[in-house]
Amino acid sequence: MSHKVRWGVLGAAAIAVRKVIPAMLKSSELEVVALASRDLGRAQAAAGQLGMPKVYGSYEELLADPEVEVIYNPLPNHLHVPWSIKCAEAGKHVLCEKPLSMTVEEARQLVAARDRTGVKIGEAFMVRTHPQWLRTREIVRSGQIGDPRLINSTFTYFNRNPENIRNIREYGGGGLMDIGCYPITMSRFIFEREPARVLALFDRDPDSGIDRLTSAILDFSPGQTIFGCSTQLVPNQRFEVLGTTGRVEIEIPYNAPPDQPTRIQIDDGRELGGRSARTETFEVCDQYTIQGEVFSAAIRGDRPVPVPLEDAFANMAVIEALFRSGDTNRWEKPVSLAG
Ligand SMILES: NC(=O)c1ccc[n+]([C@@H]2O[C@H](COP(=O)([O-])OP(=O)(O)OC[C@H]3O[C@@H](n4cnc5c(N)ncnc54)[C@H](OP(=O)(O)O)[C@@H]3O)[C@@H](O)[C@H]2O)c1
Repeated sequence: MSHKVRWGVLGAAAIAVRKVIPAMLKSSELEVVALASRDLGRAQAAAGQLGMPKVYGSYEELLADPEVEVIYNPLPNHLHVPWSIKCAEAGKHVLCEKPLSMTVEEARQLVAARDRTGVKIGEAFMVRTHPQWLRTREIVRSGQIGDPRLINSTFTYFNRNPENIRNIREYGGGGLMDIGCYPITMSRFIFEREPARVLALFDRDPDSGIDRLTSAILDFSPGQTIFGCSTQLVPNQRFEVLGTTGRVEIEIPYNAPPDQPTRIQIDDGRELGGRSARTETFEVCDQYTIQGEVFSAAIRGDRPVPVPLEDAFANMAVIEALFRSGDTNRWEKPVSLAG
């Protein structure tokens, strides 16, 4: 390790203050040196609680701070690309929250800004570097479950607060953008290819207009993903990969707890109900600490960006094709970055 990478944070977002910054502060490989909020008092309160040295009452001041090398962008979805472009133009690397953008066109603009400025930009899918996911992909690659053919996932919670960004349509709210993006990215990660076509069914909240229940099929021929996501159902998370001879299931796939071991089950199906499954357990780790460390290593040039914009673009292309499918009631093809 040559130096501690110096991070700044854009906005006193709940995810930043409650999870990502505390996790990053546990690392000896990086520093979180500054936090900016639209409101100086809010920045001071959050930074004080976290023991962070520097605060700003505007995002522009953070971008002008020469000490900051990389910015974590946890703004609402409609501000991901506009502010990530401003960061890039200020010469800062960016770790941008998911989902990357509002549209594929917007994602294309961010790719252009990255290529123009030469900074590194990645999408903050912390799941992609958690050991339980790396191991699941290794098991699938090794042939232990035969040929992987079906991924089955659900991601649900209950939140009808009209002030929450997830319930504001113009901010990029709704279940598919907030949580449907996870089964999409992890299906692409496990199958290691892109779906050729996708199909979706949406149920929208009559008051806010956001999608509150979504079902989707992704065609990875010869594999398939079916997933459901909802912002108005009992909290639940599930991800399993079924192959010709076995099945792997990740017990808590997306919000892996930072203070308890996590588990996956590998099942040859001799007995139904998972009774013939063997369990693999992973030591306690915080996926947000790992995310900060691997992105810092990418900035030092020690490894590639974990979820680069090409990957984030492909995820957005699936999301956008699913929205199109909801309108047309037909299969839709995700567009490619090449055009
Ligand atoms: N990777 C994960 O595990 C994970 C988990 C949760 C959320 N997320 C993502 O993180 C992002 C933030 O989610 P969150 O739940 O933390 O949201 P949040 O608490 O509402 O935070 C968003 C922040 O953006 C700033 N902001 C700037 N303009 C705003 C506007 N017009 N309206 C509202 N806020 C505005 C605010 O900071 P200031 O007022 O301080 O400037 C606000 O605190 C979303 O993109 C979400 O998808 C990721």
